[in-house]
Amino acid sequence: ADKTPRDKGLDHSLTLLFEGYQFIPKRTARFGTDLFQTRLLGENVICITGQEAAKMFYDKERFQRDGAAPKRIQKTLFGENGIQTMDGSPHEHRKHLFMSLMTAPRLKKLGELTHKYWEQKASKWRKKDKIVLFDEAQEVLCQAACEWSGVPIKKTEVTQRAADFSNMVDAFGAVGPRHWRGRKARARAEKWIRQVIRKIRSGKLEAEEETAAYAMAFHKDMEGKPLDIRMAAIELINVLRPIVAIATYITFSALALHKRPELRDELEDGNDDYIQMFVQEVRRYYPFGPFLGARVRRGFIWNHCHFNEGQLVLLDIYGTNHDSRLWENPNTFSPKRFKNWNGGLYDLIPQGGGNYYKNHRCPGEWATIEAMKASLNFLNQLDYKVPKQNLHYSLVRMPTLPNSRFIMTNVKSKEA
Ligand code: HEM
Repeated sequence: ADKTPRDKGLDHSLTLLFEGYQFIPKRTARFGTDLFQTRLLGENVICITGQEAAKMFYDKERFQRDGAAPKRIQKTLFGENGIQTMDGSPHEHRKHLFMSLMTAPRLKKLGELTHKYWEQKASKWRKKDKIVLFDEAQEVLCQAACEWSGVPIKKTEVTQRAADFSNMVDAFGAVGPRHWRGRKARARAEKWIRQVIRKIRSGKLEAEEETAAYAMAFHKDMEGKPLDIRMAAIELINVLRPIVAIATYITFSALALHKRPELRDELEDGNDDYIQMFVQEVRRYYPFGPFLGARVRRGFIWNHCHFNEGQLVLLDIYGTNHDSRLWENPNTFSPKRFKNWNGGLYDLIPQGGGNYYKNHRCPGEWATIEAMKASLNFLNQLDYKVPKQNLHYSLVRMPTLPNSRFIMTNVKSKEA
């Protein structure tokens, strides 16, 4: 018989909303297992955690994404029927499109643009007595993302567009107003980007060949047909929106430096190995994506548990990144732990696991690291004060952020 622990009670959808990032880790700890069963939104769901679970979760014979993401997530965060919901060879074909944007020179370019827009922003800070780092980072990244992707954006639009991208992400764990704000943001962004795709196709707007805008406008599916305008816009937004979302990791990086000022010296040496480790530790330690969902393709048994065809399975991202079997003192922020990291595909999974080309692992992982490094290098050139503020971040709200979004005062460059 199936001895997999089962969460008591009729439905835990609300508990999930009340416990957020800790919903799965709390239960795997309580049951002392890598998996348990629960009921969410009226279905029996299996939650799994850890490296072995992640390996299994990315087995395409066992799992599919079709039918996994709720419509409410597609209407806000993902876009309807985009790459996140695809399977098999159509998914691989689409995935190559995204990966083709991530060449070394293009990644370098993203870092340079990020730095350029930070400098532009900073030139306006002298007149301000305080800045909110998260808000500044979003606008910087929005401008960098648009230029990198070949999407024209007027200076006067940046604040609104950045807020729209941000509100799509913010809708993730939301019911009520926050969800509706996400829908409105997506509707407005899709309308804007559809127009960009139309103009590129008609030749009214020139996009360079290596940009995402060009790639999405002229991509052909496996039958040789171009994407319809709506889908091209959704996939272009799947590049723009998550670049803006890197603002979350930049804010958490500043928080880490604030809490552990002794780490500053090593960072300031400009040693690229150390910056790399620091960035990895930010992505491991701080919460962003809580879990991933997939549906069982064909029934199987794993760890004595029956996974039934069609069943929803959630892989615990946050818990795996804090699994004490994988990470020594997982709740200590320690970049040096990455000195001996073997680059496992299923242990550090803030942006998913497995193979970039064959699985759903985030194609933007290198771009994220590049933009974080450029931003950290920029922050390191600054002198600033961190006034008293509420820097607490909730582990219930998904996604989360330090409450004050990191306020800085007396900001000036060190050379000045
Ligand atoms: C997928 C996280 C940045 C584009 C994902 C997934 C996660 C994730 C957890 C799902 C993996 C899976 O389903 O197995 C993040 C985080 C980021 C980030 C935390 C940092 C802020 C980016 C960037 C881009 C990007 C910068 C593009 C430039 C995508 C796309 C997918 C994806 C297109 C869907 C891939 C697929 O379904 O095959 N990301 N991501 N992400 N990400 Fe990211």
